[in-house]
Amino acid sequence: MQFPSALETVLTTLERIRDENLHRPRVSRTTLETLNRCAPQKIDINETKRARESKIDMLASVQARVAPCIKCPHLASSRTQTVFGVGNPDAEIMFVGEAPGADEDAQGEPFVGRAGQLLTRIIKAMGFARDDVYIANILKCRPNIPAGSFGNRAPTPLEMQTCRPYLIEQIDIIQPKLIVALGAAAVEGLLGTRGTMRELRGRWHSFNGTPLMITYHPAYLLRNQSPSEKRKVWEDMLQVLERLEKPINEKQRNYFL
Ligand code: URA
Repeated sequence: MQFPSALETVLTTLERIRDENLHRPRVSRTTLETLNRCAPQKIDINETKRARESKIDMLASVQARVAPCIKCPHLASSRTQTVFGVGNPDAEIMFVGEAPGADEDAQGEPFVGRAGQLLTRIIKAMGFARDDVYIANILKCRPNIPAGSFGNRAPTPLEMQTCRPYLIEQIDIIQPKLIVALGAAAVEGLLGTRGTMRELRGRWHSFNGTPLMITYHPAYLLRNQSPSEKRKVWEDMLQVLERLEKPINEKQRNYFL
């Protein structure tokens, strides 16, 4: 039996005993104090657990709608599978990227290719495990490319607009304390803003009231290995840690990706 319903049974029984005037319920002061001390805590733990389970159920129901989605027929017919999102349903931080690449399309998980490995390193350097945060993309399908060609293509505005409602549902369910938008497509998909990353990154924006930090996409850092660009991303992540009031040690302060 769950603790709150057990507690309810005890209280109902005590009230019945009192109403029926059979005899006075007796309890020692120490027992009462102990009960009072632990009851609210246990109820909190159960409520937290129930809230988490309900988020998991809600995310699963969105995922079940995303998996067979054919709103963009050209993507539905070219994808291996949809790539929904991964991580902690109670995450404080949600990272939002652009769209699955070839590796993600094959594995069904966002950010598992080279750019993903760099993102995982960034997350770890911030003091989190990949499982602590939530990772998703604007598009749930890999943008199709002509047969026989290589690489990725950027999502079109129409594709982003079509897929966006799924991401909004994910954000509404998870309710992260803050969002990190990775690259220009994530910014456009989330905020509808087009601008240069140089102007947009490193500053706080707002997504429906949730603080949003914009930084470079890890794929950009793989293309541009200059230490100053890597340091910029790290400085953006230091701002994220500060906003979450996480302790930042000396090693993290001086860190270069
Ligand atoms: N790039 C993205 O934007 N998302 C992924 O999931 C992988 C690479």
